Amino acid sequence: MGGVARISVSLEKALLQRFDRLVADEGYPTRSEAVKALVREALVQKEWTKGREVAGAITLVYDHHKRSLVNKMLDVQHEFGEVVVATQHVHLDHHNCLEVVAVRGRVRRIRELVSALKSVKGLKHCALVMTTAAGDTG
Ligand code: NI
Repeated sequence: MGGVARISVSLEKALLQRFDRLVADEGYPTRSEAVKALVREALVQKEWTKGREVAGAITLVYDHHKRSLVNKMLDVQHEFGEVVVATQHVHLDHHNCLEVVAVRGRVRRIRELVSALKSVKGLKHCALVMTTAAGDTG
């Protein structure tokens, strides 16, 4: 922890050109910032494959007029209450609701929750953003 270490990296020219395009396209201010972001992303992915405690956000879009869908989604969220940290609900328009479910816990349990939500018939979109619960990715 603390301090900055400098490393040098050797890359094939063609790979470096592609990397520089990525840096520009994604809006990273420098190559270093891009490398840091990619390393952190890899560390998060590793946390999610090693079954550690993780955190994330599940976004859902659905039609709230479909009452059986709404009830089923609430049932699922209660069933997984130990990993659901908070839920934010936004009324997008007359029909559609956006819900963001913040989750924290074991990977397997969170994946089970996402599967249970995805299996609710009539859901328009369900996506998981994986992040870290430990904050040790620098
Ligand atoms: Ni709503």
